[in-house]
Amino acid sequence: MAAAGSGHENWSSRSAFILAAVGSAVGLGNMWRFPAEAGENGGGAFVLFYIFCVLLIGLPVLLSEVLIGRHGQANAPESVRRVARDSNAPEGWSVLASMGVFAAFLILSFYCVVGGWVVYYIGVFANDLVQTGLAGGAFEGRAPDDIEGLLPGLFGNGGLMVGLNLGFLVVTMFFVARGVSSGIEWVAVYLMPLFFLLFLAITIYGAFTGNFSDAVSYLFTFDFSKLTGEVMLAAVGQAFFSLSLGVAGMMTYGAYANRDTNLGETSGIIASADTGVALLAGLAIFPIVFAAGLSASAGPGLMFQSLPIAFQAMPFGSLIGLAFFVMVFFAALTSSVSLLEAPTAYVFEKFNISRSVATVIVGAGAAVLGVLSALSFNDLAGFYPLSFIPIFAETNFFDTLDGVTAKLFMPIGAILTCIFVGWIADAKLIDSENGLDGLLHKTWRALVRYVCPIVLTVILYVGLFG
Ligand code: PHE
Repeated sequence: MAAAGSGHENWSSRSAFILAAVGSAVGLGNMWRFPAEAGENGGGAFVLFYIFCVLLIGLPVLLSEVLIGRHGQANAPESVRRVARDSNAPEGWSVLASMGVFAAFLILSFYCVVGGWVVYYIGVFANDLVQTGLAGGAFEGRAPDDIEGLLPGLFGNGGLMVGLNLGFLVVTMFFVARGVSSGIEWVAVYLMPLFFLLFLAITIYGAFTGNFSDAVSYLFTFDFSKLTGEVMLAAVGQAFFSLSLGVAGMMTYGAYANRDTNLGETSGIIASADTGVALLAGLAIFPIVFAAGLSASAGPGLMFQSLPIAFQAMPFGSLIGLAFFVMVFFAALTSSVSLLEAPTAYVFEKFNISRSVATVIVGAGAAVLGVLSALSFNDLAGFYPLSFIPIFAETNFFDTLDGVTAKLFMPIGAILTCIFVGWIADAKLIDSENGLDGLLHKTWRALVRYVCPIVLTVILYVGLFG
């Protein structure tokens, strides 16, 4: 449905918007990054601080972003410019969204690398299912070291890594090139319900077969001494990453929302769904990890190495493993689509070219960076691009992009968004968009004006220099 005279598309319904936004939020961030970050940052302290960040920072920022997009009805920088113009404020504020568009592009490049690993594991489990049949566990007769070795084995094969990465990127490009209603909305409307179905089944299965109580106490026991500046910054970064914030993605999706959508309510649904999935993913993965006697701090290896070992001991292991990675693939695709859409919408509106051409231009750029990320696990393993910054000292290209976007771009983008919405933009304009009233409205406004910018600045400072 195009708005009069503009060629601008909209979601076909409110639920399509919600599914697309939840699809953007729920992804590798929940299934892969959240358990890894929680395990590396000490469990309970991280998790509780994460929940605090989602409620007091993520949710208000999410509403601010969709609101800017909906008012602007354009790509993210242009939307900010329009809000600024309608508020008689300097249009230069659009730089906050330009930074975001660039960050989305950076994230897209390494996100598709991990998407490629997911595809690889789909292949591994599908093959295993064919080889060993339905009944037994996965990888019958193979030693745990051998299963763990699948990931380093993949890492060692630069050509395969690059191929899988580009394959995942091309699928993402295909859907973005098709446009808002027949591409982006289509994936969300079909894949997200399937995702939730598989997710529910696997979580219930995990709860019955795994070591559930250890996982609960690991994830929810709060040890204050573990809450360092670095852990706090990691938790904020994870909250932003998971909610797709600070990188113009939610502004871009907000721009396709209709005027009668209540944004306050919708933001609440998106944040609850995303956080629910992250916590349940933790509760699904850690019991399995503990039951198999594996380490919680395995980091990025948790989903790709520990879990497959655990699938070995499970009845129907190959099938469960296959279902699991297919499910992660669906979640990852709906997220990568939103990561590509933010820069693509900017490029095609700004330069007045077709959507397909813009998709190819942005995709080609992401392919170049993606190859560098894919090779940082093998040929470029010793390349530390930001080694002069202490927290990135021994960080390869892939981890540097991940760290810089989640720990710098996202918090800085969010601080600027809060200042813009809370202090610069016309209060009446904001009030007419946010769909909140009474106490909720006052609370949101106080959070955006005071709490978020101050808390974020402190966490950023302590996390980087403390
Ligand atoms: N939120 C997505 C995930 O959790 C990643 C993402 C980040 C998507 C930023 C869009 C923008 O996987």
